[in-house]
Amino acid sequence: MTIAIVGGTGPEGSALALRWGGGGEEIVIGSRDAGRASRTAAEVQQKTGGKISGAENRAACQSAEIVVLTVPFQAQAETLKHLKPVLHPGQILVDATVPLAASVGGRATRTLGVWQGSAAEQAAELVPSGIPVVAAFHNISAELLHRDGEIDCDVIVCSDDHEAAARIRKLARKIPGVRALDGGKLENARLVEQLTALLIGFNIRHKGTAGLRITGLPPEAYDI
Ligand SMILES: NC(=O)c1ccc[n+]([C@@H]2O[C@H](COP(=O)([O-])OP(=O)(O)OC[C@H]3O[C@@H](n4cnc5c(N)ncnc54)[C@H](OP(=O)(O)O)[C@@H]3O)[C@@H](O)[C@H]2O)c1
Repeated sequence: MTIAIVGGTGPEGSALALRWGGGGEEIVIGSRDAGRASRTAAEVQQKTGGKISGAENRAACQSAEIVVLTVPFQAQAETLKHLKPVLHPGQILVDATVPLAASVGGRATRTLGVWQGSAAEQAAELVPSGIPVVAAFHNISAELLHRDGEIDCDVIVCSDDHEAAARIRKLARKIPGVRALDGGKLENARLVEQLTALLIGFNIRHKGTAGLRITGLPPEAYDI
């Protein structure tokens, strides 16, 4: 399975690349600049081994089965318009974008209103038809992912496509310590995205790497 990480030169994208690359997945780091993508890919490769390469964002997506979007919210629509000509049925778009006010110069502890309801629903409007959008990884901090060891955090996965969501829950569980939960329809990304601003507030007040654990559900809810 090839995973393209658009905006993979940033903290979140490169951290996911580290975790999945270390788990044996083939990764293509995407960037607006092919040289920057290659440099990040080389850094990740040095740490994880495996098949990690870098390419300009559009080229990175061309032959990927899974495209993970990790760009700031203000760049999300423009980036998806740039990718549209190469996105094709058979691929899954995973959106990790959080509409933080910080992306337009505001506070990281506040979010922006999105007309469609969430960044993920905006993404769903912008991809070609036949490409399922899955919202995931909003609540898992890049700082935590960049550390070695298990992650004390659950990943809530929202999508209108059950099969695509199940594949991304499986991918999330490749990160040691992570449990992946079915968060229901894509519209629930509205709730999950907002929680990130709350977690950032905890991190600012307590200098931590806050994450979420959902408790009290039967084992099958955690895909155990
Ligand atoms: N950081 C976290 O802990 C965390 C956790 C959960 C979710 N998220 C979400 O994941 C996304 C990425 O987070 P991040 O912290 O990695 O963000 P970031 O460092 O601000 O941006 C990631 C990458 O996006 C590209 N980018 C930046 N501005 C762009 C623009 N105007 N147009 C196109 N591409 C642009 C850059 O890559 P190139 O310059 O190489 O193209 C950059 O390295 C955000 O939506 C964030 O809310 C972050």
